[in-house]
Amino acid sequence: MAEQTTKAVVKTIILKVNGAVHNVNVLPDTPLLWVLRDNLGLTGTKFGCGMALCGACTVIIDGRATRSCITPVSSVVGKEITTIEGLSPDNSHPLQKAWIEVDVPQCGYCQSGQIMQAAALLMQNAYPTDADIDAAMAGNICRCGTYQRIRKAIHEATETAGGAAE
Ligand code: FES
Ligand code: FES
Repeated sequence: MAEQTTKAVVKTIILKVNGAVHNVNVLPDTPLLWVLRDNLGLTGTKFGCGMALCGACTVIIDGRATRSCITPVSSVVGKEITTIEGLSPDNSHPLQKAWIEVDVPQCGYCQSGQIMQAAALLMQNAYPTDADIDAAMAGNICRCGTYQRIRKAIHEATETAGGAAE
C-alpha cells in the first residue's frame, strides 16, 4: 500500500513589520521569529528556548507582547508587528535611553526581549508599580540576573517620558 504523505506548501505571506510591508515566501506555519531573522534580516530578536519559556524572542503585535518563537507567521497577516529595530529610529525611545543610562545589560542576549516586553507594559500602564513590573516581566528570563536594573530602568523611562513611553 502506498504511503500517504502531506506536502507542506510554501506560500507568499504579506507582513507589516516596523511600518514596512514585506512579501515573504515561506511555509505558513514557520515561526515568526525565523521569518524576522532569516527572511527579513531583523536579528535583534533572539532565539532562546523556542517554547515560549524565556522571552528572548518577544516582539509587539498589535500592542501586545508576543513570543515570536511560537507564533506561526500566517497568524499575524494584517497585524502591526514591531521588533526592537522598530521601537525608535535612533535609540531615542524612553526605554532605550533608560537602558543606556542605567547600564542594564550584562551579556545582552535577553535584552531586546526585555525591552519589548517593557514597551508593551508601558503602552498599557504608563506608571507601573514594582509589582506591576514584576508581574509583566516574570516570563522574561535573564541568566545574568539583571532584574533589579531592568526594574530601575522601567521606572526611569516613565519619568523621562512623563508617563507616555510608547
Ligand atoms: S525563544 Fe521564544 S520564549 Fe524563548
Ligand atoms: S543580560 Fe545576559 S541573559 Fe540577560
